[in-house]
Formats: sequence, C-alpha cells, structure tokens
Amino acid sequence: MRKIPLIIDTDPGIDDAVAISFAMFHPKVDLKLITTVAGNVSVDKTTENALKLVEFFGSDVPVARGCQEPLLKPLEDSSEIHGESGMDGFDFGTPTRKVIPEHAVEALRKTLLESKEPVTLMPIAALTNIALLFKLYPETKSKVKEIVLMGGSLSRGNTTTAAEFNIFTDPEAAAILFESGVKITMIGLDVTSRAVLMQKEVEQIKTMNRAGEMFAALFSHYRGGSMKTGLKMHDVCALAAIVEPELFDFADTFVEIETGKGPANGATVADLKMKYHRETNSTVALDVHVEKFREWFLEMLEQTK
Ligand code: RIB
Ligand code: CA
Repeated sequence: MRKIPLIIDTDPGIDDAVAISFAMFHPKVDLKLITTVAGNVSVDKTTENALKLVEFFGSDVPVARGCQEPLLKPLEDSSEIHGESGMDGFDFGTPTRKVIPEHAVEALRKTLLESKEPVTLMPIAALTNIALLFKLYPETKSKVKEIVLMGGSLSRGNTTTAAEFNIFTDPEAAAILFESGVKITMIGLDVTSRAVLMQKEVEQIKTMNRAGEMFAALFSHYRGGSMKTGLKMHDVCALAAIVEPELFDFADTFVEIETGKGPANGATVADLKMKYHRETNSTVALDVHVEKFREWFLEMLEQTK
C-alpha cells in the first residue's frame, strides 16, 4: 500500500500530542518531518514537547524548530488549556533528542523539494511557518498535494466569539494560505468540538498501553473541554480527515479570513451558499460521526506503541 507522505506543523499542546503519536504509527502514513511553531506555548516549549514525543516513542522523525511569533500579531498563548509546559501531566524527562539545524521553513522546503511525490501538509497550529514558506519559496507549492488543517470555525470561536485559536493567533498567515491556490481542507472547531472523549474512553485508554497511560495523564491537565462535557480532540481530527475521511461530512466552499482589527479578527467566513464567490478555495468539514470517531480513536491507540 502506498503510504501518504506527511509533514505535521504543530504547537504541542496536549491535543497535538495525540495527533503526532497516531501519525507516527499509522500504516498509511510516512511521517517525514515535524515542524514546530509558537502557539499554545512558546516555540521553545512546543519544540521541546515535540522532541519529548519522538523520544518517548523512539521515533527517528526529524524535528525542526519554527517561528517564535506570528507574522504581525504578538503571541497570546493558551497555556491555561495545556499547562505551563504545554504538555502538563506526564513526566517525559528532559529529551536528549535534538532538533535538526535547519529552521522549520528551510526544512519544509528541503523535504518538499526532495520528495519523489507531492506531500500532504497537516498544520494543527498557527500557520506562520507555512505562510512564510509560500512567500519565500513559492515553487514549493507545486510539491504540496494538499493542506489538511485543524483551525477556524463555521460557527463560534474559542479564543474570541468569532475566532478559533490557530487562526486568531496568525490571521495574516491563514489569509496567505487560503489565497495561495493550494488545495486546503479545513477541519474547524465546530466539528472538532464534537469529537470528544468521555470519562469512559479515558478510563479505557489508561490501561490499554503506554501511549494510553501517557495520554490519560496529559488529559488530567487538559482544559479543552471537561470530563463532564467531553475532552475535545481537535488536532487528531486533521489526521482522521486524511486517513479516514468517511468519519466526516464535507462541503466545497470559499473561506475568507478576517484580518481587520475589530472583534471579528481571525474569523473564518465560509460562503457556504456561494452567494459572493464563483470559485471555491477550500473544502470544509461540516460534521463528524462521533461514535465512529471514538471507535477509530481506540483502534489508533491500539497500534500506537
Ligand atoms: O483551537 C484548537 C487549536 O488550538 C488546537 O490546535 C489546539 O492545540 C490549539 O493549538
Ligand atoms: Ca495545536
């Protein structure tokens, strides 16, 4: 079976940790590179967290450190959701693994240009690195098969009424991607907030294997939802959309990013009725089949060792 060449751009981040872990072990995925960016916490911490994960699993996937702040806005982190370290709750120890010397943008360019076939990009954080890649090296766009991102929302935001965190953190970067002409699939907050694990699943994963034990420990510090309403597995939905798209319903549309300075800053406005646009620029997830998602989650965990 031909594997999907994949690069994950990430700000671990407790929900990022699940997405990265599952991708490392998925039989359909060839994870070629992990690039980090400032978002949930500083880029120093998101990079250290990515190194903790590759070391925990003994993976040889290279990690490249990326941008330490958004293109224009100051960084406002979400350590209140993920803890001071960005992955509170489990003691990984200090990783001995080091980042590769190239900046994430250079590592993205090199990996894309060297790949024999187009690569899928899976950004699950602010889009700063990828926006810079497209601006500095536009020739790399032709080597991107598609971008499947967790971010945005077809309804309310989580950081402001209008905006989801990844897009709110760097709206200018998101605008660059949605205007790039590269194929984009957006898995928004309205959908990922339904992809929740309840107490029953958390208890189940705790004793399944060492990855489940680690996830359960992280989840005890994760404030993306609650045990009562469910823990929101935002980022792993991007991976699910790549390897198991039938878990979701999709629509092609035109998404505009609000970069104005008002209360709508960072909103992803989807023209779902195509009233204002003739062409589409993206595919958006409309819904997730929650019970099937939970079954998929447990199957993925079984193979994540
Ligand atoms: O809004 C949810 C997104 O913001 C997720 O990617 C989470 O990790 C945070 O980065
Ligand atoms: Ca994230």
